Amino acid sequence: MVFSIYAMIAVLAFSSCHRGYAQEMSRFHVPDIKLNGTQSAAYCKELGYDGLAVLSSPEDYASAIRFTDAIRNHSETHFFIGLRFLNNTRALRWDDGTAAASDTPMSPHMHGPLKYPNNHFGRISSDKHIMMGAGDCMRFALCGNYTKTQIAMRGKSSHGQQPTKVRYNLSVSKTSSYIHCSVLCGQDHRCQVAHFKSDGLICTLLAPDSFTGFTADPMSHIFIRDRFLQGNSL
Ligand SMILES: *[C@@H]1O[C@H](CO)[C@@H](O)[C@H](O)[C@H]1NC(C)=O
Ligand SMILES: *[C@@H]1O[C@H](CO)[C@@H](O)[C@H](O)[C@H]1NC(C)=O
Ligand SMILES: *[C@@H]1O[C@H](CO)[C@@H](O)[C@H](O)[C@H]1NC(C)=O
Ligand SMILES: *[C@@H]1O[C@H](CO)[C@@H](O)[C@H](O)[C@H]1NC(C)=O
Ligand SMILES: *[C@@H]1O[C@H](CO)[C@@H](O)[C@H](O)[C@H]1NC(C)=O
Repeated sequence: MVFSIYAMIAVLAFSSCHRGYAQEMSRFHVPDIKLNGTQSAAYCKELGYDGLAVLSSPEDYASAIRFTDAIRNHSETHFFIGLRFLNNTRALRWDDGTAAASDTPMSPHMHGPLKYPNNHFGRISSDKHIMMGAGDCMRFALCGNYTKTQIAMRGKSSHGQQPTKVRYNLSVSKTSSYIHCSVLCGQDHRCQVAHFKSDGLICTLLAPDSFTGFTADPMSHIFIRDRFLQGNSL
């Protein structure tokens, strides 16, 4: 069984006139002007958005990739997004305060953001990966609102299996059903697997690097969510 909840994604209208590239329905917007990283974030706010787009979940990332497809195809361009490298914590954090997930699709050319202490501005590159840079180049920006009204989730559900070699969990709670447990997974951008035990009604959320595989367990239902570079026609 494939279990899918899709967020509404507006179709991108690429036009040659200078009115901006996005349709009004969309939660993203690309202003038709190239600015540096600091200015881009400020301009997104000036336009009424919370700031540069936060793509912390696999679904938000997939939406942004689809949204920027036409423009990326027309010019080998990169877009500033709301991801920062913080000096004090030496960590990647989204502008809404959430920590970047362990499998955030960083560019293989980056060799890890820690090697780039001055590169504080995230961007989507033309090959769909996320790169960090100094933010001093003039680029397009992807603006967006942080708070989401819709939960988007894509993945597969399966009965009779449980995760093995669990090193840690994101949360353990009691839920009334397997579906409720899956919804909780969709609300945590780090979650890859929702594990529901029907005997105790226990819902455990797991990150991609917190377990190593699955074994049979007749009392278990799992939801395996598609991750960033999976199932998104990338
Ligand atoms: C973004 O949030 C602002 C402030 O809440 C709101 O006025 C605006 O309509 C939102 N924009 C979109 C595209 O949802
Ligand atoms: C952009 O290019 C990709 C890969 O070449 C293709 O799959 C996609 O449909 C193109 N998008 C548009 C809007 O032309
Ligand atoms: C971050 O740290 C690097 C090296 O430790 C330093 O050169 C740079 O100025 C710092 N940047 C900010 C914005 O504090
Ligand atoms: C962007 O440009 C402004 C104005 O020239 C400047 O103050 C700011 O430091 C620049 N930001 C970056 C990250 O280079
Ligand atoms: C889940 O994680 C918490 C916090 O790390 C830990 O105390 C708890 O024992 C874990 N529960 C299970 C069932 O693994």
